[in-house]
Order: sequence, then C-alpha cells, then structure tokens
Amino acid sequence: MKDQVIIFDTTLRDGEQALSASLTVKEKLQIAYALERLGVDVIEAGFPVSSPGDFESVQTIAKHIKHSRICALARAVEKDIDVAAESLKVAEAFRIHTFISTSTVHVQDKLRRSYDDVIEMGIAAVKRARKYTDDVEFSCEDAGRTPIDNLCRMVEAAIKAGANTINIPDTVGYTLPSEFGGIISQLFDRVPNIDKAVISVHCHDDLGMSVANSMAAIQAGARQVEGTINGLGERAGNCALEEIAMIIKTRQSLLGVHTNIKHNEIHRTSKMVSQLCNMPIQANKAIVGGNAFSHSSGIHQDGMLKNKNTYEIMTPNSIGLKNQALNLTSRSGRAAVKSHMDTLGYTEHEYDLDKLYADFLKLADRKGQVFDYDLEALMHFANLRDEDDFFKINYLSVQSGSVMATTSIKLQCGAEEKCEAAVGNGPVDALYQCIYRLTGYEIVLDKFDLTAKGEGEDGLGQADIIANYKGRKYHGTGLATDIVEASGQALIHVINSIHRADQIATIKQQNSQ
Ligand code: KIV
Ligand code: ZN
Repeated sequence: MKDQVIIFDTTLRDGEQALSASLTVKEKLQIAYALERLGVDVIEAGFPVSSPGDFESVQTIAKHIKHSRICALARAVEKDIDVAAESLKVAEAFRIHTFISTSTVHVQDKLRRSYDDVIEMGIAAVKRARKYTDDVEFSCEDAGRTPIDNLCRMVEAAIKAGANTINIPDTVGYTLPSEFGGIISQLFDRVPNIDKAVISVHCHDDLGMSVANSMAAIQAGARQVEGTINGLGERAGNCALEEIAMIIKTRQSLLGVHTNIKHNEIHRTSKMVSQLCNMPIQANKAIVGGNAFSHSSGIHQDGMLKNKNTYEIMTPNSIGLKNQALNLTSRSGRAAVKSHMDTLGYTEHEYDLDKLYADFLKLADRKGQVFDYDLEALMHFANLRDEDDFFKINYLSVQSGSVMATTSIKLQCGAEEKCEAAVGNGPVDALYQCIYRLTGYEIVLDKFDLTAKGEGEDGLGQADIIANYKGRKYHGTGLATDIVEASGQALIHVINSIHRADQIATIKQQNSQ
C-alpha cells in the first residue's frame, strides 16, 4: 500500500461556504497561494455553478496556482460539471469533484429518487467529468450513514465509470472512529475494483471526532484526507488539516505514512486564514491555538526547564512558530522590512513592499518598536485594501468623556475632500454618523468586534464588522494603534466594497440597455 497520504484542502469551498460574509476573489487567491506553499496536494477552490463570484475565484486560482492541483465541486448534474470544467480549463491539469447523496434519508427525503436512479446519476456524472479531465473524484454524500451494501454498489459503479478518487464523507459527523475505520475496511474487502482508485475521507466535526475518524480511516487504508485549515466548515466544521499533518509527522513510526506538507508553514497559514475569514482561533485549539505550546503550571515549567521532552511532543519551531523578536523602528529602511518579511517566509508577490513600508513607518512613528506580528498584521491588512478605494480617511479627531463624544473627520471621497462633525453616545457612534452622512450609505451592522493584535497595551487594535447592505453581507476590517480609527477603517473598508459592487452593477445595467 502506498505510504503517501494526499492532503486535499477545502478551506475555500466547504470552509468558505460557512462564513458569515464571503471572501473576495483577491482574498481567496491569497489563501490559495498560502495553501500551495504549505504543500497541500489538491485545493478545492470552490463550487463554480453556485455563483458568478465562485466561478471567477476558481478560474483565477486555476490560472495562478501551479504546484497544487486545483479542483472544483459539481453536483451530479450536467450543468454543474460543464461549468466546473469551464472555470478550470485555464489550468494545465485539474480535478472535477462530483457528488451525490447515498444515505437512505438523503436519497428518499432530499433527492426523492430510487437508489438505482442515484447510481445511474453518479455513473453519468463521472463519465461526463471524464470528458474534460482524467482526474475525477466522486463523493457519496452522507456515506457515514449509508447502508454498507448500497455504499459498496455505488463505489464499485463510480470506479467502473472512471472515477480515480472515491471520497467517503461523514457529512454530519455522526460516526465513531472504530465504526468509520470499519466502513473503509469493508470497502477494501468487498469492492472488487477498489485498487483502481484512491480512497479519500471527508469528516465533519459535529461530535468532535472528525480528526479521529480521518485517522482511523488512514489506518484502514484511506490515502487522501479532506479538510480545512483551522477546521473551518459547515456547522462545527471539517477535519483540521494542520492536526492531521502533525499527527502523521509526530506518530510516523507507528503510522508508517507521510504527507507533502511543509510543517513549518502551518502557523503562518493558519493565522492568515483566521484573519481573512474573520474566524478567531480558540486559545486551546490543538497545534495552532495561542496556548498550544505554552506551559502554565509550576510543575510543568520545572519539567520543561529540565528536559523539554517531559511535556513537549512537538516543538513550536516545527510548525513555524518563531520567537517574536523586536527589531524594527522608524529608523529601519525598506531593505530591513523586506529582509524581515523574507525571514518570516513571505515572498514579494504576496505583498506590496511600498504599501507595507508606508504603513510600517506610520506605525513605527506611533509605536516605536514594530514586532514581527505587527508586520504580518499590516501585510494582511494592506492586502485587503485596493489602490482605487473611493473613500479614505484623511484626518480624524475624537473627544470623548463620560457623557457624550464628538468626532470630526476629513474624508476623501473620490477627488474631493469632505469634512463632517457629529456628536454621539460614544466615539465610534459619532464617527459612524459622520461617515454615513459623508458617504450617503446607511448600513446595518450585524456584528462589531474589537480585538487586540500583539501583546501589551501598545498592541494594535483590530476592528471587524459584518455589515448587511441590500441583503448581501460584507466583511470590513481595520487595524490601528487607536481603536476608534480601526473602527472607522473597518466601516470605510465595507463602504468601499459596497461602492465597488454598486459601480459594477451600474455598468452591467448600462451595458444591458
Ligand atoms: O460534507 C460533504 O459530504 C461534502 C461533500 C460535497 C463532499 O462536503
Ligand atoms: Zn463537507
């Protein structure tokens, strides 16, 4: 049996579909670059038939990513498969992933078909996908709850039709590790052509067993694991790929398998995904949580000082976690900033050095010392902004006390600079009133979060908002030493995205007249 476990990342599809505001094409491409660098074998970039935005993202990623295979999802219907192929054809080689439900409850109550019909639809879908590519994956949705005889029939038929990867999802995270491993073993025992395909697993975390179930499947012979960074995904999420990669590395002698993952990219990729998806990571999360490598109790600290093996089964360095050193100030030049970015492992196509350096200088003037984590936060933030942003805060002044707050602002609105002042219940309220008046946009906020980035009281403040405008959700983020300014930037970020979407809609309308 082959000893490589293929890592299939679906952060941009299963993960993204669970976010409260969808990612932009630019953000998805940024994540795809990080996944490529992490060494994932397959990137599921989206579900192209679901929206024009998803189509464009898959196409863009397929055009730019060269070292990971790009895959797109399609239901077992002709149109989905054709649209998936159309979005992927810019890539030299690609995978189409088609699926249909196989559990009794899904077949009877969701699809309202007979099981024979479902098998026919699966076969037809695989054959259609094979017209476009010889890399076809077929999934039996809700396989975890599918009667084993039915599952064996479907798998055999899909392989015969030309699928070379068969994915067995535990779609609702229902099975136990021994049970799920048993399903995989039975497929190996009972499906006559099983050796013609790679067996993949895709486990959800509803009962907190997605990683354990995936590992049981690997031990039973599965050689592809699907999952997401930080375990993002529908409901309780998907199997966390960073956990799979580190389990396989840490327990390699027992498991006898390996992956292509570059483990020292894990920390950075996880941080980037968390930031762009606006999904903070719980401190005690395995591998990438803030406390995953910190030792609190006196007994543990004593043991660590004597011998790290007492309480450390993997090193922080192995996932790319470096000691955060301070070394940049406002006297540091562009070359120093670039060299820091090199050391942190970022290549220049991932950020704009001019933009980053300008932001760095502003921050260094205010803060004195700029830390590695500040630089990373600035980079992610700069990447979210566009050169052609219509609105920009030029000046902001806030006076707040225990009763009311007053804010005055100068806002760049295209070529014109406009001024406004307002009184509010607090400084953010006053500022938002100014921005609403100057831009003409009145927005309903679904969520407003403030978090500290970095350590100590001079850490940066990050504001994240989810706004609802005409039924569509937008995510805005702002980063500054001042939390009122960060809140203003977050709102301006959202308003620029809405303004851009309005402009595109107007152009489309004019073209159609
Ligand atoms: O959870 C699931 O079953 C899926 C399939 C589309 C693979 O996401
Ligand atoms: Zn899923």
